[in-house]
Amino acid sequence: MVLLQQLKESIDYIRGLSKLRPRVGLTLGSGLSGFARSVEVEKSIPYKDIPHFAPSTIDGHPGNLILGHIEKTPVVILQGRIHFYEGHSMERVVYPTRVMAQLGIEKLVLTNAAGGLNPKMQPGDFMLIRDHINFMGTNPLIGPNIAELGLRFPDMSEAYDRDMLERLQAILTRRGLRHSVGVYCAMTGPTYETPSEVRFLQHIGAQAVGMSTVPETIAAKHMGLRVCGISCITNLAAGLTDQKITHEEVKEAGRLVEQNFSDFLVEFIADL
Ligand code: HPA
Repeated sequence: MVLLQQLKESIDYIRGLSKLRPRVGLTLGSGLSGFARSVEVEKSIPYKDIPHFAPSTIDGHPGNLILGHIEKTPVVILQGRIHFYEGHSMERVVYPTRVMAQLGIEKLVLTNAAGGLNPKMQPGDFMLIRDHINFMGTNPLIGPNIAELGLRFPDMSEAYDRDMLERLQAILTRRGLRHSVGVYCAMTGPTYETPSEVRFLQHIGAQAVGMSTVPETIAAKHMGLRVCGISCITNLAAGLTDQKITHEEVKEAGRLVEQNFSDFLVEFIADL
């Protein structure tokens, strides 16, 4: 199987640079990559140096795999992700997640920037992902199943780990940070939604919309990981305000919450 061979080459390369064995994985979304400053970095490896990693091409997504510690917890961090809208296959999009799984992590924390579908939300709010809707029209597990990675038909009835979600909720509540718990819907992008699409997504039961995370959750669940997801609501979705949505606004909102985000995430991961 070509993919298994590729994964082995990536793992061998990374282990050749660091012996650190991460227990927790973290993927940082748009505007949130500054979190890496809260990490005691042992090794930062540019994606372009890792065999079979697609380079991240998006402004605001630097593209490094970082091995280090958050307090006592050994972690691997993807500083910047690869998106489907960049033109990569789903297999490439979830490749770094599979590498983290094969590095030995048990738990994965996925973060993203998202549009809020609930008009009561405000930029800078957090939404803890309770469940998702895959609206990308495809699935990273399409194709022959690789039995070494997981089952043909993975169960998704608890895609997001209840225990991790409750711990996060307790931390955010104690810190007095605005947050909610809800359903994240993934679209392919790269266009933001139309107001009609936003009304549709509200009707089908989503509270946040974005262009990532769902493929990674699927690949991670396939490989037996416990997953949690955190959306940073960077804007209200199209049509809910008079404002147009820009990538600059999304990045800026990410930067504004970066300190709060980093602080609660350090507390959460230190205890995982
Ligand atoms: N829609 C989709 N993705 C996003 C948005 C949005 O409004 N904001 C940040 N990422």
